[in-house]
Amino acid sequence: MRLDNKVALVTGGGSGMGLAFTQRFAEEGAIVFFTDINERAGREVEQRLTTAGLAVVFLAQNVALESDWMRVLEHIREVSGRLDVLVNNAGIGTLNNIETCTVEDFDRILDVNLKSVFLGCKHGIELMKEQGGSIINVASIAAICGEPNALAYSASKGAVRLLTKSVALHCAQRGYAIRVNSLHPGYIETPLLAGSSGSTRLSADEVVATRTRIAGEIPLKRRGTPDEVAGAVVYLASDESTYVTGTELVVDGGYSCH
Ligand SMILES: NC(=O)c1ccc[n+]([C@@H]2O[C@H](COP(=O)([O-])OP(=O)(O)OC[C@H]3O[C@@H](n4cnc5c(N)ncnc54)[C@H](O)[C@@H]3O)[C@@H](O)[C@H]2O)c1
Repeated sequence: MRLDNKVALVTGGGSGMGLAFTQRFAEEGAIVFFTDINERAGREVEQRLTTAGLAVVFLAQNVALESDWMRVLEHIREVSGRLDVLVNNAGIGTLNNIETCTVEDFDRILDVNLKSVFLGCKHGIELMKEQGGSIINVASIAAICGEPNALAYSASKGAVRLLTKSVALHCAQRGYAIRVNSLHPGYIETPLLAGSSGSTRLSADEVVATRTRIAGEIPLKRRGTPDEVAGAVVYLASDESTYVTGTELVVDGGYSCH
């Protein structure tokens, strides 16, 4: 049990990687609060995992809203009295480029992918300060490698990467014992990758061409699975990584080697 008795919060736990992190954390002995804007998906996951005997609790949350963060963290404070692990995972993806991306697309992506991480770190630290903890911000290889058709997404994830380092340094400087790291998955089989989470501003042909080109550039010649990323998150969440802060953990089948 690598996370025995730790209290964890995973955002976007109703689907894809967040679901895999929630399940794996609970299997490793954590008490896991997980949130999602999609209440139906969240409730279904909660029922399935609790039926399997895992300690998980679903809370509805829009991660872009400060009031939702306050409500969720207050609930965890009341029920558990502390928070050991926070995974800022919820996010959305769209394909757009500098000419097709609208101001509304840009604001929406940055609100959900970046402002959410700012809010999670800002308020999560309050609950972690006394006993210490681990914050994992889910960025992407889009924070490391350029991609012409992921304009707003790359901007949001690149900012998450450096926000993470700033928060890591702040916590270290203040002696909070909170480690803060970013996770950079490559192309992972989830509904987000299938393009279901946002408006795409490219033609159908351009979308297919972009996906085919990217798939052809993965050295391991396949997309990853959420389970293949979950192990990396357990490592960052656990006491196996007590000397790791401000780092970028890449899980991408070699994509960013190019
Ligand atoms: N799939 C990939 O290839 C890939 C690669 C790199 C990074 N990522 C990142 O991993 C994270 C998880 O993505 P995924 O691929 O599992 O996608 P997913 O679409 O399967 O899951 C994302 C979850 O976030 C939730 N969500 C969306 N907006 C929200 C909001 N405003 N408030 C709360 N919840 C919200 C969705 O309802 C969904 O359940 C995201 O941050 C994504 O950018 C994904």
